[in-house]
Amino acid sequence: MYVHADASGRGIGRRLIQETIKRAREIEGLEQINLTVVASNSRAKNLYFSEGFKSFAMEERGLKMGETYYDEEQMALRLFKECVQQGAPADAKKRRG
Ligand SMILES: CC(C)(COP(=O)(O)OP(=O)(O)OC[C@H]1O[C@@H](n2cnc3c(N)ncnc32)[C@H](O)[C@@H]1OP(=O)(O)O)[C@@H](O)C(=O)NCCC(=O)NCCS
Repeated sequence: MYVHADASGRGIGRRLIQETIKRAREIEGLEQINLTVVASNSRAKNLYFSEGFKSFAMEERGLKMGETYYDEEQMALRLFKECVQQGAPADAKKRRG
């Protein structure tokens, strides 16, 4: 996503990502939003982190512009609360005896 340089730093980028997340949550069955950001783009990364995205992978030299390569960071936002299992399921315990 892009905000024109003349308008940046005024909260427009945050409103754009928040609206995107809100609309995504309204799509039944959608579980996760993935995005890619140039790893050195701390401005955009700060925004995504602060809205709950987490990094999960790095694609080295994922982007080439002219003769310059850039690493790309993969980020994801889970749209639902995960059901974390604290131990083995009850039936698995039974099967082990
Ligand atoms: C990244 C971008 C979309 C942010 O949009 P914006 O309207 O300028 O951002 P906002 O004013 O809503 O600021 C949102 C957050 O970005 C971060 N941010 C903004 N300016 C920053 C700066 N100069 N340095 C570091 N972080 C900065 C902050 O976390 C900020 O939140 P805060 O002000 O509550 O602390 C915009 O700068 C842009 O279009 N950049 C060029 C294109 C680009 O990099 N796009 C992303 C590709 S993945």
